[in-house]
Parts: sequence; structure tokens; C-alpha cells
Amino acid sequence: MGKKVLVVGQGGREHALVWKLSQSPQVEKIYAAPGNPGIAQSAQCVNISASDAEGLLAFALQEKIDLTIVGPEEPLMRGIVDRFQDHGLKIFGPSAQAARLEGSKVFSKNLMYKYNIPTAAYKVFNEPKAAAQFACSFTDRGQPVVIKADGLAAGKGVIIATTSQEARQAVDEIMREKVFGEAGKSIVIEEFLQGEEVSVFALADGHKAVTLVAAQDHKRVFDNDQGPNTGGMGAYTHPPVFTSELREIVDRTILQPTVQAMAQEGCPYRGVLYAGLMITPNGPKVLEFNARFGDPETQVIMPILEGDVLPLFEAVADGDLSSVKLTVRPDYCVCVILASGGYPGKYDQGYPIKGLESLSETTLVFHAGTAIKDGQLVTNGGRVMAITSRAKSMEDALNDVYNQVEKISFTDMHYRTDIGKRALNRGK
Ligand code: AMP
Ligand code: GLY
Repeated sequence: MGKKVLVVGQGGREHALVWKLSQSPQVEKIYAAPGNPGIAQSAQCVNISASDAEGLLAFALQEKIDLTIVGPEEPLMRGIVDRFQDHGLKIFGPSAQAARLEGSKVFSKNLMYKYNIPTAAYKVFNEPKAAAQFACSFTDRGQPVVIKADGLAAGKGVIIATTSQEARQAVDEIMREKVFGEAGKSIVIEEFLQGEEVSVFALADGHKAVTLVAAQDHKRVFDNDQGPNTGGMGAYTHPPVFTSELREIVDRTILQPTVQAMAQEGCPYRGVLYAGLMITPNGPKVLEFNARFGDPETQVIMPILEGDVLPLFEAVADGDLSSVKLTVRPDYCVCVILASGGYPGKYDQGYPIKGLESLSETTLVFHAGTAIKDGQLVTNGGRVMAITSRAKSMEDALNDVYNQVEKISFTDMHYRTDIGKRALNRGK
């Protein structure tokens, strides 16, 4: 009999996961909680919030779900995996203890230090005065400094200060004004690293890591990396900076040692290990770990994975990746996020989305912030959808994706026009 799968989440990442899983010959039925109108094309959406672990557990027990896949980080940190496992349910993702690799920057920095995993030099502070003093010791020498709230801060907990005033203000906001609440009780202050950033995605089964693929995100809202940080405005794979030589170094010095360290610390890591790296002149260094797939990176990773992903996700959940075969296509894949004007700040929503019917058949559309209103597809969030193209060359993928993007419109639609340009320029 076919298997029942539950995907937790409602963004473009979850749409890409559902899209890929729907091609599995072993999958009979996919549920998504809460899902979105795009996801509803290949899954049954159930109205349970991703943060309602008890509601999800009751649903999974009732429907006898064979495998649950968790998209976002928050449920992981709150222990959804532990709850499901207590009830004998199979679930893909790290335990709450293991998810600290993303949930606590103090935990992950201390782990890297203890196990010699390359990362920026740092100190941890629980008290603002000493923190500000240390931060200013960089800026006084004319060096930028990076100030990070310990806990989850909706992607906003990292501040790069270039002057002493900015450094003091960042420490004050995090520790005295508590703009990120308890997440700012402790802070990490670290050296500023220079280089090119790359996101590396691996699967880990508690004992070892298997590298899937690398991708590059575009975090700033405007072209040429201008404007405020967002959840990500577009992504592509394969970044030329991630050579096979670098892949070997990252595997040997970062991914395997991290998975081994977590096992040694008594919290074996099972799930996606997403390493945000800076490729510095002294080699790759970890900026951060995430305990989940990236968004929008997943929208360019799923389309280039060969074959069935279900056995892969099951093997991770079972804690044994040894017999799993993984093939990643050499194709280039690019996605461009269509966002609501004003995002990541204030924006209006509810605008009709036009032009999707005229896209070429090979274009993939992954929904994020969409809704159906009066029978019409409308905008319903900051990041509205990811338009994705695959091709044998980066140039073809980019040309195609932007040709498709131009066919779509909604009021105040905004997107970056330079996704993947770095890869293209490097190749010339
Ligand atoms: P994180 O959430 O720790 O990845 O930080 C968010 C972003 O801040 C990263 O993607 C980098 O662009 C930047 N960043 C974080 N740490 C550093 C660092 N030590 N040096 C330079 N940039 C950094
Ligand atoms: N694309 C950035 C993230 O998923 O954290």
C-alpha cells in the first residue's frame, strides 16, 4: 500500500517539498498543514498551524501518517520531533536538543570551538557593559564587528556594526531594550569575515552527513545587494565558488565533524544540516547552522534531485543513510521571488495575481504568500511566489526565468533582476 506523508509548513519551501514528494511512486497521499493554494494542487491541506504540535500529533495518529516532514525551524526547536517519536511516529527533522545548532548561537559557536570546526573568532556575553566594550574594541580599530542575539529572532538577530556608536546601539537594543525578547539574553560578538557566501545542504542520520548540494541565496531586497535583509529574494544552484575541492574540504572539516560532535555531546543530529558558509581566503568558515531546508534554496534544490526523495527522507528519520543512493543533476536551477512592494517592511495584500496561465510548461511556480479570494488567486504575504527554471547552462536558466517573470503581474509586484548574476559573471 502507498504511504501517507504529512508536510508541516506553508511556504515556498514546503511547496517545493510537496511537489517533489508527489512524484514518488511510493506516496499515496500527501497532507500539508496548513499548506497554501499552490500546495493544494498536489496535497490535501489541513487547517492546523505549523506551531500546533499537539494538533499535528493528533492528526498524524488519527490518519496513521507514515512520515512527517517539518519545514520551518520553530516547531523543531519546540520539540515536535521528540513528541512524534514518543508516540512511535516517523518524522524527519532534528530533536529539540539537536535543533539548538540553529536555535542557540551560543550553543553552536561553543560546539564549533570545542571541536575545532572553522568559524569566526567570538566571545559570548550575558551582560551589556562588557559586551559593548568588546564590540568597540573592533570598531575602535576601524574593523566591523558582528553582534548576534543568541536565540531565534526571525532572521533579524544579526547586526554588523562599523562604528562604536552602532556597536553600542546594537548591544543596547538586544540586551537592554530586549527587542528580540529572551533571544537576546546572551549575545555572541564575533569578527567580521570577508568572502563569498554559500549555503551547503547535507542530510545527516545521527552518525554522518551526506552532502546534497550547494546554493546561493540573495538576502537583500534590492539589486546589487542593497536595502534591508529579507527571507531571501531568489536562489540558484550550482554556485561556481563551490568547487569539488571545496566540497571535499567542507565535508571533511565542517559537516562530518559537526555531526560527530553532536553525537558525542549526546544529541545526535538527524535531518537537514544547512551550513551557511563564508568562503574566506583562509578557507570556508561557518557563519551559522540551520536545522532545516532553506527558503528559497529548496525551490532550486528539489527540481535537480534525481529520483525518489521519500527513501532519502525515511532513511534520515530512521537514522541510517548508509544504503541510500543520491543523484543530483548537473543542471542549473534558478528561482526569482515575486514579492509584495514594501516587503520586508509594511505591504498591502489581497491583489489578484495575473499571467500564470501564460507561463511555459516547464516553469515551476512555488507558492508562498498566496490565497484564494472569491475564486481568484491573490497575494497574501511578503514573499508571494518563486518562479523557477532549469536548464543545462546558467545563462539559459536565467534567460528563461526572467522571460517567465515578465508575464506575471500584481499591484506593486517587486523582484530582483540580478539573481544568479554573480555566477554568470564569474564564468566569463
Ligand atoms: P547568520 O544568521 O548568522 O547567518 O547571519 C546572517 C547574515 O549576516 C549572514 O548571511 C552573513 O551575511 C552575515 N554575517 C553573519 N556573521 C558574519 C560574520 N562573522 N562576518 C560577516 N558577515 C556575517
Ligand atoms: N534562505 C535563508 C534561510 O532559509 O534561512
